[in-house]
Amino acid sequence: MHTFQPYPIDMLEINPFTKLSKEWALVTSGDKTKSNTMTVSWGGTGVLWGKNVVFIFIRESRYTKEFIDNGEFFSLSFLDDKYRDALKYCGANSGRNEDKWEKAGLTPAYRHNIPYPDEANLVFLCRKMAAVPIEEAAFTDPTIMEKWYGDHDMHTMYVGEIIEVTAR
Ligand SMILES: Cc1cc2nc3c(=O)[nH]c(=O)nc-3n(C[C@H](O)[C@H](O)[C@H](O)COP(=O)(O)O)c2cc1C
Repeated sequence: MHTFQPYPIDMLEINPFTKLSKEWALVTSGDKTKSNTMTVSWGGTGVLWGKNVVFIFIRESRYTKEFIDNGEFFSLSFLDDKYRDALKYCGANSGRNEDKWEKAGLTPAYRHNIPYPDEANLVFLCRKMAAVPIEEAAFTDPTIMEKWYGDHDMHTMYVGEIIEVTAR
């Protein structure tokens, strides 16, 4: 197990446009009995409802969504480039069919009982504040539906209060 330290959020220096879109991240949810993790590259960080938040977008078909929906917490974790293949694996295979942790060569760890990959270098531990289904009626740009939701596998936007940032 690696040793993680709380990281002061004011000290974070990340590029909001490239951190998630280029490095990718793992969204993890569940508990010590069972958890699942999946790769994401859409979303962001910011301030909402008086809290520091992350927002992520999870399609209906994702197994991880069931864990986020059933629980109160999730984590958003960043890993070094040497774990790129593990992130590719977690972005192309569903934990519905297998133990994805083992298959991807990742290890679940817990902080405040929230699961995250022990191999991460930066972890946002989040408390779910809102789950907002993205619906076709919301789009003012008519091209979005056709381009991104041809199969109607819609996203839900999750807003999570960042309760702690940890790094190693
Ligand atoms: C680079 C990359 C980024 C991804 N970003 C997202 C995302 O933001 N939201 C989403 O719903 N799926 C995203 N995916 C797809 C899921 O990671 C993928 O469907 C995964 O197998 C779901 O796993 P699960 O069924 O175990 O939850 C992404 C995949 C990759 C490779």
